[in-house]
Order: sequence, then C-alpha cells, then structure tokens
Amino acid sequence: MIYFDNAATSFPKPVAVIEAVVAALKAPASPGRSGHTPSLEASRTVHRARKAVTKIFGLSDNSRLVFTPNVSWAINAALSGLGLERGDHVLSGALEHNSTARPLARLVKEIGLDWEVVPPRDGAMVASDFAARLRPQTKLVVLNHASNVSGALAPALEIKEVVGEIPLLLDAAQTAGAIPMTDYGSKIDLLAFTGHKGLQGPTGTGGLWVRPGLELRPLAVGGSGSRSESLEHPDFLPDALETGTANTHGLAGLAAGVEWVLATGVEAIRAREEQLTTNFLEKVAGIDGIQLFGPGLGGGQRVSTVSFNLSGWSSSDLAAALEKNYGIMARAGLHCAPLTHQHLGTFPGGSVRFSFGPQNTVSEVIIAADALNELALARRN
Ligand SMILES: Cc1ncc(COP(=O)(O)O)c(C=O)c1O
Repeated sequence: MIYFDNAATSFPKPVAVIEAVVAALKAPASPGRSGHTPSLEASRTVHRARKAVTKIFGLSDNSRLVFTPNVSWAINAALSGLGLERGDHVLSGALEHNSTARPLARLVKEIGLDWEVVPPRDGAMVASDFAARLRPQTKLVVLNHASNVSGALAPALEIKEVVGEIPLLLDAAQTAGAIPMTDYGSKIDLLAFTGHKGLQGPTGTGGLWVRPGLELRPLAVGGSGSRSESLEHPDFLPDALETGTANTHGLAGLAAGVEWVLATGVEAIRAREEQLTTNFLEKVAGIDGIQLFGPGLGGGQRVSTVSFNLSGWSSSDLAAALEKNYGIMARAGLHCAPLTHQHLGTFPGGSVRFSFGPQNTVSEVIIAADALNELALARRN
C-alpha cells in the first residue's frame, strides 16, 4: 500500500504511539478522579500530553490547553462558548472546512450572526483583505491555517497582526506538527488542533488553546473530578472545558506522537514533506490533461496536500483506479470543504487529493506520478 491520505489521518503511526496506547490500555485510566497509584499515573499521562503539545505551540500556560475529542469539537467549543449574539460580525477565510463552516452557518440561522467570508486571491488568503472588512461589530476572525484541499497556507500571524485585539480562532488541523508553530502560542487567541494528523496521535484526540483573558462558556458540563461538592461546574481551566473522563488511552498515544514529532524535528518533517510535494508537482506538471489546484512550487506557501483532476476521469473513478491498479490510497470528492471547491471551480465533482506524510518516500511519489501518467494515457486512447 502507498498511503497518501495523511490529511485525513496520518499513517503509519510511530511505533512508540502504538506501544503507548497498548501500555495505557493495560492500566486503569481515571485521571484526576481517584487517589490510588494507577489513577495518579493516568493523570501523569494526561499531563505528559499537555506538556508535549505546549512545546509544539510554544504555549505559556499549559492549564489553558484543553483536550477535546478532535478539532471539530474544539472549534464548536470556541464558537459556542464565546457568547456571540445577534448582529455580531464574524469574518472567516474562504477555504474553511465544514468543521468551521457548519457551526457558523448554524449560528447565522439560530442567532442571526453576521458571517462574512473573505474571498481568496489566486487561491490564497491575504491579510489586508481581512483588515479591509473589519467593522465595530466584528467579534471574531476564524481561519483555516492550511486548506485540506489545495494545501494553500494562510498567513495566520500576519492576519492576527492586522485584526489587532479581535480574537482569532485558528483551525490548525492541517498544520500542527507539519510546520513550525512555536511562536503561535503567544499570538493566537484560540488555537484548535486535532491529534491524529500531523501530531501522529490516535483518533479521538485534539484540543483548544484559550489565551489568558478569554473565557468560554462550556459546551458541556458534568463530572470533572474537582469541586465535587458543588452543582456548579468548575470555572477554572482546564476543568471548565474538559467534562467527563479524559481519553487517557488516546492521550497516551498523543503524548508519544507529539514527542516523536519533537524528536524528529518539525523543521525536518517540513523539509521532507516539501521535498515530496515539489517532486510530485515537478513530475506530474507535464501530464497531458492534468489540472493541479493550489499554490505551485516553492515559496513555502503550501503544505504537503495537493489536489488534481485528470481529464476523462471523475475524481471518484480516478481514486478507485489508483487503489485498484496501484495500491495508492487517495481521497476523492469534496473533502468536507464545499466552500473551497466552489472557489477552486471544482464543485460539485471535487478533486483527487494526495497528502504526503513524514513517512512517505520519493520512490512512492515517483510510482504515483507514473501511475497518473498511465491513467491519463488510458483515457486518451
Ligand atoms: C482543515 C480541517 N479542519 C477540520 C478538520 C476536522 O478534523 P477532525 O475530524 O479531526 O475534527 C479537518 C480534517 O479533516 C481539516 O482538514
């Protein structure tokens, strides 16, 4: 198998991740609940995950990093917790995933939120376009850091600079662990991430960084293992936003995944993925009938996700042929990002997406490029 679907979930997971999950499953896992030794050990596991993620983003206070089941939950926790009201204006990028677009659309319908989408220029978000749309009623800016369709990287820090005091909610699903982000913790107000992509952890892990001074109303309240005498849910972080028993097994794997990323080096991962992407784009550029979407070669304006279509093929038939004939796993269709496909002009048919990970090789990329060449010829003759 050649696995090019790392934007959906990374594979293979580092061996240390598998071992950490198995080890965690062999012990009782009730962090912050009981006072016995295994419970304290489970708390240490959760703490290890918090510490590791803190390092990736350069966070100043790891108690303000809350774990959630995935980035979708983290984004919902932020959007519903901010107390947005009728008439409040929210700006978002145009390349948002449904994890952001759907909760925003629901707020428009249910509370009369004024949601404005900033259009892309040549497929990319531009900071001054956000600045130009700010109004006194603007309460939040929401941004997908890198498109999970085209790989286009948004200038998040530049956008934060131009929007000033207005909180920025960053969806780092496609960038956490893939690009260096140690200076984001001190600048981004709400940073949402998922654990099972670039951070190399298991599914069911993710989280949200909430900068000091921002308070969110919890999406759910209940057991926290703290202030048990009260019917009021605790108001301090992380307990306020971490309701119910933590996913200790998953977080054991996340800790190991992030530690693997840190030991490998985010810069080294970035360099490898850039090399794979460059090789692929160079190899396929000359294929007759290929249409590539997203930023071109070089310039650091993209992550290692590339989308394309081949004339004569629907995206789903092409992905199926890649798997059947060559063992290449790709994702076809709309990638939960219909807005992005509308901007790319590929709605509703979508595209085929390859997303390279740190464990892919140049020879796999060459096999895939040759496969696309053959499939292009097959439909031409
Ligand atoms: C940009 C982006 N946002 C959000 C998500 C949702 O991730 P999760 O399913 O882990 O919540 C994804 C992943 O598919 C994504 O690529």
